[in-house]
Amino acid sequence: MSSVLVVHGPNLDLLGRREPEIYGRQSLAEIDTAMERFAAQCSVAIEAFQSNSEGEIIERLHRAADDGTDWIIINPAGLTHSSVVLRDALAAIALPFVEVHLSNPAAREAFRHRSLLADLAVGTIAGFGADSYLLALQAVVNRIEV
Ligand code: DQA
Repeated sequence: MSSVLVVHGPNLDLLGRREPEIYGRQSLAEIDTAMERFAAQCSVAIEAFQSNSEGEIIERLHRAADDGTDWIIINPAGLTHSSVVLRDALAAIALPFVEVHLSNPAAREAFRHRSLLADLAVGTIAGFGADSYLLALQAVVNRIEV
């Protein structure tokens, strides 16, 4: 069974009450549950990980290189626009990943227009709220089946 790691970056633990007009009203737990249901239907193993600490995210990614993870779906949150170390970690582990955003950063402040990760990603899905995650999982499942 293929294994997908979902990584949620800083402040995404506050989903549901964090700027809901931008990020929606679904909590992170609700998003993770929807992902788990969909993964089960597709016979894919899934694990979700959230941290507000850049270092913990890097450590989790390093473990993913050796723990049987086949794909990563990552919403790097604010680290998208700032983190060379997150980019370096994703390059180092060399696992295929999808970059996900609830909002559409390209339609927001200029500092959100640049992603330090996007060119390493297989693809990016942004702007569909919680559906961005499910669309990313669908894309991963399609590739696993190929
Ligand atoms: C985000 C977009 C980022 O610009 C922002 O810093 C976030 C969330 C999104 O999912 O829309 O924290 O990644």
